[in-house]
Amino acid sequence: MKILAIETSCDETACAILEASGGFEGPHFQVLGTTLLSQALKHREFGGVYPNLAKREHAKNLVPVLRETLKKAESLEFKNTPLSSTQEKEMSVLLKREPELCAQLLDFIPHVARPDIDAIVVTQGPGLEPALWVGINFAKALSVLWNIPLIPVNHMEGHIVSVLWEENRKSNLAFPALALLISGGHTELILVNGWLNYRTLGETRDDAVGEAFDKTARLLGLPYPGGPEIGRLAQKAREHDVHRDDIVLPRPMINSDGYDFSFSGLKTAVRYLVQNLGKLDEITKQVIAREFENAVGDVLVAKTDKAIEAHNPKTLIIGGGVIASTYLRARFQEYIKNHPAITLRIPALELATDNAVMIGIAGYFRTFSSQHSPDIRAEGNLRLS
Ligand code: KG4
Ligand code: ZN
Repeated sequence: MKILAIETSCDETACAILEASGGFEGPHFQVLGTTLLSQALKHREFGGVYPNLAKREHAKNLVPVLRETLKKAESLEFKNTPLSSTQEKEMSVLLKREPELCAQLLDFIPHVARPDIDAIVVTQGPGLEPALWVGINFAKALSVLWNIPLIPVNHMEGHIVSVLWEENRKSNLAFPALALLISGGHTELILVNGWLNYRTLGETRDDAVGEAFDKTARLLGLPYPGGPEIGRLAQKAREHDVHRDDIVLPRPMINSDGYDFSFSGLKTAVRYLVQNLGKLDEITKQVIAREFENAVGDVLVAKTDKAIEAHNPKTLIIGGGVIASTYLRARFQEYIKNHPAITLRIPALELATDNAVMIGIAGYFRTFSSQHSPDIRAEGNLRLS
């Protein structure tokens, strides 16, 4: 089946069209078209994502991103298909809070043929509610105009299934699986007993890992998003192999019971360190970045290891923007060498950070279970289990 996926939970406006087949037993996905517009540069001056700016940018960009995706998937056919007055009215009701998006859509839809698509899937949450709402209302409008079923998707489920996409390959995995999700808003260990069957083992009690990367970067005077910036600095420190006994950070909750995390203390420790050290030269920043990455890596590996010991998974999945980190990818590849019975699954780099392909994959699985409710509401704190 052909799926159109829409993702607007944070600061990426993304659409993708996938051809999906094989069901739960042998899922196979072909990406026919994918387009992603990152707003990261626009949010830089705020030092993080500013929800109302994200909403406005999504509203401005969704139609161009959709058009581009349809074009890439060879599904853009120009044709005169005027809207009925009922359809126009429905649009203005659905998109009353997004007049610019409504105007763009009313300008676009009457000139294109209904694409050959079997389902539209959209991120329902978790994420920034104003941003989620734009994507949801847009998806609802397309679903009504083109008469295509609409399916809501949990963004974190998207990060889990992002590991399933492999060029030209069927790609299932063995259950039970343990999923470590590390993104800008979440840090979670989840037991995956089968598709659509999740149990949260632990989660962060305060900041998410990505948030700690972003806040630490800010303390070091680096721009948003902080993860890649910290990674670059840390890599330099590793190349130069500089040692500094005065730059040591804590490993919060590394030996605590259970599978919860806490990263706000790590960020606070960086703040004190920076205050005590005074003006930071480049080498000092590099050493702090390396120590920060090492601390994060130690905690993530320790907690994952603990969950592996207890639950004996056949697969370890790592998803979320932070697994774009070269250091963390290497760290887990190293870790798994001592666990030959477990297969490590990490997403392709372009599917680690937010994208619509992973939402399409999650949506495909949801087509087998859904509740095709037309009344989808954004849920900023939507949980998997
Ligand atoms: O999954 P994601 O794209 O968005 C959310 O769902 O939150 O994750 C974004 C997070 C940001 O905090 C960003 O700094 C972090 O992922 N990130 C990285 C890297 N690339 C992105 N963290 C560490 N190293 C990276 N290379
Ligand atoms: Zn994400």
